[in-house]
Parts: sequence; C-alpha cells; structure tokens
Amino acid sequence: MKFFVDTADTAEIKSLASSGLLDGVTTNPSLIAKSGKKFVNVIAEICEIVPGPVSAEVAATDFDGMMAEARVLRRIAKNVTIKVPLTVDGLRACKTLSDDGTAVNVTLCFSPAQALLAAKAGASFVSPFVGRLDDIGQDGMGLIAEIMEIYQNYSFRTEVLVASVRHTMHVIQAAKLGAHVATLPPDVLRALFNHPLTDKGLAAFLADWAKTGQSIV
Ligand code: G3P
Repeated sequence: MKFFVDTADTAEIKSLASSGLLDGVTTNPSLIAKSGKKFVNVIAEICEIVPGPVSAEVAATDFDGMMAEARVLRRIAKNVTIKVPLTVDGLRACKTLSDDGTAVNVTLCFSPAQALLAAKAGASFVSPFVGRLDDIGQDGMGLIAEIMEIYQNYSFRTEVLVASVRHTMHVIQAAKLGAHVATLPPDVLRALFNHPLTDKGLAAFLADWAKTGQSIV
C-alpha cells in the first residue's frame, strides 16, 4: 500500500519524507489556501521534495478551463498528477488528459458508479472520500470494498486512493481491502508509528542497558 500525505505544508512534507515511507502527496484548493502560498510555487516546491505523484487540483469547472489549467500545472514538474472533480466535464478532461499520457486523479468520489466512470475515463487514481461519508452516517469503507470489487472484476488499472482519512483504523481497513493508496493527514501518518507498549518496552530496554555500563560504538 502506498502512503501519500494530504497537505500543502512543505515543512510537514519534508519531515515525513525523511522517513523514506512517503510515496506521494495530495493537495486540494482548501489545503493550498491554508498554506498561504502561491499555488504554482507550492506545487513546484513539493515536487522537488517528493519524487512520487503530487496531485494538483484544477479550479475551473468547465472542460476548456480545466484543460487550460491542466496544461499550466503539468508543466511544473514531471511528477504532477492533475486532479479533477468527478463531474461530467471533469471526466471528459480526465479522458482527454489520460489519452495524452497525463496522470489524472479524479476526486470527490462518493459512489461506486462514479468510481466506475473514473476508471472508464482512464484515471490513474480515483479518490473516494471515506471520512466525509462517515460524517453523514454512510459507510465510507463499504464504498472502498465496492470499488475494489468492481475494479478487480474488470482488471481496471485505476488505483483506489482512499481520501478524507480521519484515523489509523481507516488506513488498516483500507489496507485489508487491498486499496492501492491512502492519503493521510500528517497526524494520522505519524500515529501509524505509535503504540504505548513500544514506548514502554523501549524505556525498559534502555534502563536495563544503562545498568550494563556498556556502549556499542
Ligand atoms: O484531499 C481530499 C481529502 O483527503 C479531503 O479530506 O478531511 O477535507 O474530508 P477532508
């Protein structure tokens, strides 16, 4: 399973990339606004930190506008993935860009039917939002299971990028379903490393080691 981080905070991205476990980055207009930086500049900065796919989302809602923005965004770096919303125009842009060899992430996916369309449009990634479905009392992880089943039935190459992740259990459930990617808020990615028994066990080992008076180097 690949781990992407869902942020435009370059300090966070640098720190998480140093783990060697970060495979890519996703951004959206809300995260860009939060960064307070110019969109094109922040995407260029992120692409230099992380060699994997970096999603940059179009702001236009019509086909021509999306295509014009996509042409600007994909010039920033080779690892830019163009993110388009799951709308009629967004899927048309996805098909055109994908046919042209550009990686596309279709975002704001909330149903298996939408995910089927994204795969048929040649998306490299589809982003189902599990947390936002859970928030309204629907089964976010159930959607991942349905999409995985459909994609496996037809051997679609579109990768399921689990988005709107709220906690580590979302990550584990998605991994059990075989989802290809999870994009995680930085705190959720950090939380994956932690277990209180690891901390307790390490403290005990270190205390016992100190008693030996030895050093390894
Ligand atoms: O980037 C898309 C998605 O991960 C947004 O998550 O937390 O705003 O629902 P959230």
